Amino acid sequence: MVKVSAPGKLLLMGEHAVVYGQPCIVTAVDQRLSVTVEKSKGYKSIINSPQVHDTRFIDAAIGVAKKAWGTDGGIRITTQGQLNGYGFGSSSAVTVATLKALSMLYEKVVGQRELFELSYRAVLSVQGVGSGFDVAAAVWGGTVYYTGSRKTAEPLAVGTIPLVVGYTGVKADTVELVRDVGRKREAYPEKVDRIMQGVGKLVASGKEALLSQNWERLGKLMDFNQEYLRDLGVSTQKLEDLISAAKRAGAWGAKLSGAGGGDCMIALAKSDKREEISKAIQQAGGQALDVRPNAEGVRIEL
Ligand code: MEV
Repeated sequence: MVKVSAPGKLLLMGEHAVVYGQPCIVTAVDQRLSVTVEKSKGYKSIINSPQVHDTRFIDAAIGVAKKAWGTDGGIRITTQGQLNGYGFGSSSAVTVATLKALSMLYEKVVGQRELFELSYRAVLSVQGVGSGFDVAAAVWGGTVYYTGSRKTAEPLAVGTIPLVVGYTGVKADTVELVRDVGRKREAYPEKVDRIMQGVGKLVASGKEALLSQNWERLGKLMDFNQEYLRDLGVSTQKLEDLISAAKRAGAWGAKLSGAGGGDCMIALAKSDKREEISKAIQQAGGQALDVRPNAEGVRIEL
């Protein structure tokens, strides 16, 4: 029996633009999803996954593993964890954890790059769209500068990121939002491409601000990023309410995190302002989440 866990993620900057080749900055969060795998009799795979109702990602991971390693036979897979609902990326976490666990079950030596490629293949086979940034976060963990064009992950040596996270209570449909933006780009290619390039530049500056721990500057860059996301039409009134509340309560900057349409917003704040900002988010109808960034990537638990 093998047990492996992988973290969820939060996008700090660069959502949507990363789908079009621009970089993004993503941090792994301390909410993890675990997968236990063992061999079972027969050829069928038995999946017991109360957290990840959509078992297509587990099925796809099994399919990719069997193809890559020429293995066969039944597997019993059970998932445990606390990733459900907030948009922290349970699909990528479960895919990465399953492939890592299967590699160990079959005694295959798989490096991080290969694990990323196999997992990304599995995720794409189910979703059809996606930049792979969430898979990179689950594999490498920490905080990563991920390039959408080359699919490279550069781990960033950052300490604590002073992040406050607010959940809108609305579940976003990432695939639909990515398609929406795609349709907008088809209709207004110049406008949308200009936005994507603008976001890419902000992300590059954001990386420098993050590395030098210049939170005030990073906050400002996040605000600018949010303006572009608003222009793309992926923000919502609820997200805007939580973002404004966080800003009014003294955040250096705030923006939506992920595809938009709901899920979470993030704010950067001095430690003595965190409580006030969390309260302001609650008063604006959101849920302040206790989430720590910069978490460890995929790891063996058993
Ligand atoms: C969704 O969390 C982030 C997007 O950029 C999609 C992706 O990169 O796969 C909208």
